[in-house]
Amino acid sequence: MKYVTTSIALCLSLAAGAAFAKEGVTNPVVKERMDLMQMIRAATATLGDMAGGKTAFDATAATTAKTALAVAAGQIVVKFQPQEDDPVSEGAPAIWTDFAGFTSKAEGLVTAAEAVDVTSLAGLQAGMGAVGGACKACHEAYRAKK
Ligand code: HEC
Repeated sequence: MKYVTTSIALCLSLAAGAAFAKEGVTNPVVKERMDLMQMIRAATATLGDMAGGKTAFDATAATTAKTALAVAAGQIVVKFQPQEDDPVSEGAPAIWTDFAGFTSKAEGLVTAAEAVDVTSLAGLQAGMGAVGGACKACHEAYRAKK
């Protein structure tokens, strides 16, 4: 149970933040990948809020959010493929020097999202740890604070 609570807290902290791509982003390619991350954040927040009891469990809404998360995760590779930069971007150069590694982290999120059992609250709670772990694994390696 402690593990579940920690995972949910991790998810919520990853999911916290602005609702849209960073202000001041001018490169449209960078904006698109930030918007994608914000979509991922929003879907994860919906699932995390339910898992954490902040909102009531709703299997239909959870299914919608899970699908949105998996679809968005499936777009990461294509949105990050162009090596574009912007003064406000947090994309690390390692994304493009190690695109295979980056791709496998993106696939990790797709797998984790698809594996979430949204038919019950317990299933949702059990699945969120892997989702949060997938965000963290990629951010640690490929998202640099500037
Ligand atoms: C395969 C790698 C990868 C995965 C998986 C990943 N991210 Fe990201 N994320 C990034 C990178 C790289 C950036 C920085 C992009 C930039 O600033 O150019 C980022 C940025 C973000 C941002 C900031 C967007 C903005 O407007 O600047 C949020 C929010 C975010 N990610 C949430 C998440 C959440 C939540 C998850 C998991 C459900 C997740 N990410 C999974 C690579 C990833």
